[in-house]
Amino acid sequence: MMENSMLRSIFIFLLCVVLATIFFFNMEHKNETDSSTERVFTEQVFHPQDYLGIDNTNISNDVIAKKLFDSHPNLVPARLTEYGPRQNDSCALYVNMLDANHNNIYWQEQRAGNDTYYLFGAYLDNRTTLNADPAVRIIAMLDKRNRTQNLSCQFWYQKERMPIISAVSEYRQLWKNPSNSSESDLHPFLLSCVVPKLNKSVVPESVSLVGAPCQNATNNLRVGYNGAPNGTKRGFAVCVTALGLSLRSFLPVLPIRLIEWIELNKILGAEKIIFHEMQMHPNMTTVMEHYSNAGEVEVSGLSLPGYLTNVPDFILSYLNTKPHIRTFIEDLAYNDCYYKYMHQFEFFVVLDIFKVIIPDLAPDWRALLSEPGKKSPAASFTANRSVFVDDKAEMHDWSAEVPKYLHMLQHVHRNVKPNVTEDETMASAKNAIFQKSASPFLCVRQGSNNCRSDFVAAQLHKYCVGREEDECKTGRGDQLQIDTTIRRFKGELIKASNKALKTLGLVKFT
Ligand SMILES: *[C@@H]1O[C@H](CO)[C@@H](O)[C@H](O)[C@H]1NC(C)=O
Ligand SMILES: *[C@@H]1O[C@H](CO)[C@@H](O)[C@H](O)[C@H]1NC(C)=O
Ligand SMILES: *[C@@H]1O[C@H](CO)[C@@H](O)[C@H](O)[C@H]1NC(C)=O
Ligand SMILES: *[C@@H]1O[C@H](CO)[C@@H](O)[C@H](O)[C@H]1NC(C)=O
Ligand SMILES: *[C@@H]1O[C@H](CO)[C@@H](O)[C@H](O)[C@H]1NC(C)=O
Ligand SMILES: *[C@@H]1O[C@H](CO)[C@@H](O)[C@H](O)[C@H]1NC(C)=O
Ligand SMILES: *[C@@H]1O[C@H](CO)[C@@H](O)[C@H](O)[C@H]1NC(C)=O
Ligand SMILES: *[C@@H]1O[C@H](CO)[C@@H](O)[C@H](O)[C@H]1NC(C)=O
Ligand SMILES: *[C@@H]1O[C@H](CO)[C@@H](O)[C@H](O)[C@H]1NC(C)=O
Ligand SMILES: *[C@@H]1O[C@H](CO)[C@@H](O)[C@H](O)[C@H]1NC(C)=O
Ligand SMILES: *[C@@H]1O[C@H](CO)[C@@H](O)[C@H](O)[C@H]1NC(C)=O
Ligand SMILES: *[C@@H]1O[C@H](CO)[C@@H](O)[C@H](O)[C@H]1NC(C)=O
Repeated sequence: MMENSMLRSIFIFLLCVVLATIFFFNMEHKNETDSSTERVFTEQVFHPQDYLGIDNTNISNDVIAKKLFDSHPNLVPARLTEYGPRQNDSCALYVNMLDANHNNIYWQEQRAGNDTYYLFGAYLDNRTTLNADPAVRIIAMLDKRNRTQNLSCQFWYQKERMPIISAVSEYRQLWKNPSNSSESDLHPFLLSCVVPKLNKSVVPESVSLVGAPCQNATNNLRVGYNGAPNGTKRGFAVCVTALGLSLRSFLPVLPIRLIEWIELNKILGAEKIIFHEMQMHPNMTTVMEHYSNAGEVEVSGLSLPGYLTNVPDFILSYLNTKPHIRTFIEDLAYNDCYYKYMHQFEFFVVLDIFKVIIPDLAPDWRALLSEPGKKSPAASFTANRSVFVDDKAEMHDWSAEVPKYLHMLQHVHRNVKPNVTEDETMASAKNAIFQKSASPFLCVRQGSNNCRSDFVAAQLHKYCVGREEDECKTGRGDQLQIDTTIRRFKGELIKASNKALKTLGLVKFT
């Protein structure tokens, strides 16, 4: 008993000592930490470079504005006045970007009655070669096949208080094979509004698409106009949709194939290559940046509108199981590329990074299109399609005259199937109304002589990736024939590709 109570006393005493120690230690320690934290903080706040691994670039508002302009060309610079321009107090209120209905990063949304539109971009088209009034072309998706209501455009000018309102004059379904889609799908359209003649020929700053002319819009798109800087058009632009630049299965070689592809297009005459991409592996970004720093490549963002998914890594399998969505988003991107630059380039070439147009004899595209006997210019050009199978890895008969990593130069076995004529793959910026899959590029005035499509002495080479697609399964034998036309560009292509590969450190050179 005695022992027990003594033990208890000792225990209580020790407990008190421990608690007191902890208490005082904490007090002291707390003061110490406080003052030391303050000291460190005071020093660091004046030396942001001391933080490792943090981007401490001083980003000014101008830089942000420039970045926004490049990445989201349809956003209108903010006009934040309390009472913006309008027709009058009850009609056509100006929408600033804080009040617009935005959708999936690149789109704006507008309802007109029961119809919902997703708007991607708007461009002024004042090409004199069209023999038509200047119009603004709006790239849009509608939530049904047929609209239930007609539309109007409200044009906004920089210094005008009132909009100019004009009816949509043309509703062009961008995709000519609507049987592949269902009524409830989203449907791509090119909507045109004639710009009323004004004394001054100014580009409208922005446009709102509405149902009834007086409707208060929920969208306001900057009207793009990229004129030729010195009045002279450049030659060829290449429009590319690059939805799948993150495919894992063949990634290691993809950046190298991209370099070979870009260099070959440059040799053939491409002055600018415009990509629309949805998800890209960092190694591809490295390559893209290399060329965009040189002004040769432009990469634009793209997303699916409305209820469609944009979840990274999921988009690709999503699109692969829904080819109709893939087709319309590709067509939409091609049209965006064309309308954005139609005043700057003479011709547009439409490709993906596994296809290239190789003239049979001409040294480049310019020479191809100016062959004698072609007096009036065609609106578009077609070529035969050749499929080159991807079978070197199984056959091991690499050519000694070209590096193993240059895929197109190595792969010369092509299918001997009856020639398939490819859809138009080159369009003139003079008179085409752009459109792609399953339908030719159209002209404004159908049937007129310069609306024709010419067949050119060239092959559209398609380079298989692996052996999965039907046309890529052909084995060696009668069904494959050797076609080395591409090796005409061998010397120049090897040199240019190696230079880029060396700069980027993608291949080990000894
Ligand atoms: C903690 O700092 C305060 C104010 O500086 C001081 O009043 C207090 O005595 C300090 N406490 C200890 C345990 O040092
Ligand atoms: C950042 O840029 C702004 C505007 O150019 C300038 O006023 C400011 O001093 C800069 N700050 C630093 C830390 O360089
Ligand atoms: C506002 O403008 C519309 C269209 O011009 C016109 O119909 C309407 O009467 C005007 N309302 C007022 C209050 O002025
Ligand atoms: C547009 O908005 C204004 C202000 O909110 C409102 O008075 C007017 O009725 C609206 N006009 C239409 C056509 O809805
Ligand atoms: C909108 O849909 C509703 C319900 O389906 C219908 O009653 C109405 O007439 C439609 N409005 C228009 C303008 O089509
Ligand atoms: C849409 O319009 C086309 C052509 O005008 C017509 O053939 C088709 O039946 C219409 N579809 C629906 C669902 O109204
Ligand atoms: C749209 O306008 C055209 C021409 O004015 C007219 O024929 C057509 O019925 C209108 N459509 C709708 C859905 O109101
Ligand atoms: C669309 O349908 C046509 C036949 O109606 C077919 O030939 C074509 O392959 C289809 N395209 C897509 C992308 O499914
Ligand atoms: C087209 O519009 C732009 C911008 O206003 C102008 O500079 C150019 O001269 C116009 N082109 C024609 C052919 O009217
Ligand atoms: C116009 O610009 C193009 C492309 O930038 C350039 O190649 C050409 O030399 C320029 N022409 C004149 C006359 O400045
Ligand atoms: C390629 O990607 C890998 C992994 O993301 C990275 O380690 C490597 O530095 C990249 N190479 C280039 C040239 O960007
Ligand atoms: C296919 O095109 C190639 C190259 O232009 C040509 O040599 C060949 O005769 C064509 N084949 C057929 C069946 O037309």
